[in-house]
Amino acid sequence: MSRSAHPAGPRHADVWPEGHYSAPPADLNALDPKVWAQTVTRTDAGEVSVGGIGVAALAEEFGTPAYFVDETDFRARARAWRTAFGNDADVFYAGKAFLSRAIVRWLHEEGLNLDVCSGGELTTALSAGMPADRIAFHGNNKSTDEITQAIESGVGRIVLDSFQEIVRVAHIAQSLGKRQRVQIRVTVGVEAHTHEFIATAHEDQKFGIALADGQAAEAVRRALTLDGLELIGIHSHIGSQIFDMAGFEVAARRVVALLAAVRDEHGVELPEIDLGGGLGIAYTSDDDPREPHEIAKALGEIVTRECEAAKLRTPRISVEPGRAIVGPTAFTLYEVGTIKPLEGLRTYVSVDGGMSDNIRTALYDAEYSVALVSRTSDAEPMLVRVVGKHCESGDIVVKDAFLPSDLAPGDLIAVPATGAYCRSMASNYNHALRPPVVAVRDGEARVIVRRETEEDLLRLDVG
Ligand code: LLP
Repeated sequence: MSRSAHPAGPRHADVWPEGHYSAPPADLNALDPKVWAQTVTRTDAGEVSVGGIGVAALAEEFGTPAYFVDETDFRARARAWRTAFGNDADVFYAGKAFLSRAIVRWLHEEGLNLDVCSGGELTTALSAGMPADRIAFHGNNKSTDEITQAIESGVGRIVLDSFQEIVRVAHIAQSLGKRQRVQIRVTVGVEAHTHEFIATAHEDQKFGIALADGQAAEAVRRALTLDGLELIGIHSHIGSQIFDMAGFEVAARRVVALLAAVRDEHGVELPEIDLGGGLGIAYTSDDDPREPHEIAKALGEIVTRECEAAKLRTPRISVEPGRAIVGPTAFTLYEVGTIKPLEGLRTYVSVDGGMSDNIRTALYDAEYSVALVSRTSDAEPMLVRVVGKHCESGDIVVKDAFLPSDLAPGDLIAVPATGAYCRSMASNYNHALRPPVVAVRDGEARVIVRRETEEDLLRLDVG
């Protein structure tokens, strides 16, 4: 019983065969550094801490559920991407993974650029001082207002996604007396998931303009003729939660072939290519993500090789990692409320959050890990399903995991690797109040996005 395929890959749509579960980990108290943020450790007393602060104190001060971001880890990952790509390439953090003004400031300070895909993300970025020329604006159906806002604020590039948009952006730029730097997003016919990719002629999805049937070449032709546009390059994004670089290789080859065709037809060598985001992270100990320097090296080699073969100057490369920067830097802290053993099946552990703070399990059958963090335990492992408090049986946070069998109401448990696409996709389902995001660093914790209140809910409900 596998549901629809998911951007995060086929593994995430798997359902365990009846009666088959992975073995419990050798030590339930161990914290795998692959899935936990850098400064997360277990103290001698057995409690887990982040940035030097124990989870009990964090829960006491900020309540549960709450997301805790390890600022040291976030900055280190951002810097690692920046350093790996060096001065001849640009790293645009994909704000859709998680965006707040503190995050924007950290990115700015660490020398990263920012990819936004809505007016709301653009406003957040600008209000936190990200220079507009370091922002790329995305989206398959940008409104006239959004395009106007982007051009007026002076964004570094707008990524054009359709034939209509080529004309729309050119027209708005011209009416504002500007020439807007743009890239054209092409669909290269590579559908990449986790450890696999499929190369086809067409992609059956809403984004971009197909390379197939000369459509992308036609888009370039039109963009080059419009005064309001300065075409700086081609953009491709092939998927999410990808570990294998082979899909990027096919994408780069196809994009470079388009650059060569553009040079042959127009005598223009477009100076930039963007290979998108989608690099995978470890949600469980089974995942083996690549380091930024390996990714930078692999992408650089692929593009250089393809350009040499096509006798093109190597364009400036940019990438747009979201999940790979913020994903591993945060965990969600929950308090255990009720525990229901279902004989011969598994034990249901209900926490004080759920699908409103992490929709990914319900939406994509995503896999997560979980650990008891308020104390250690030597009790036998029990197979659990961590569920939320929503009125829906699909309200699952962690499908299958092991926790100690002496787990009790009031214990704190944490789900790691929830930095990406959890708070950013959170909802008010059942009028849940969206949890806060708390940044922790060097013994200090501060709220960067506050918890919603009932007043927030009522303020929107005008009666
Ligand atoms: N660039 C473009 C043009 C994108 O569309 C995306 C993601 C990214 C960059 C960043 O991808 P990342 O490095 O974060 O994987 N909600 C889904 C993921 C949707 C991703 C959409 N686009 C999830 O929770 O898995």
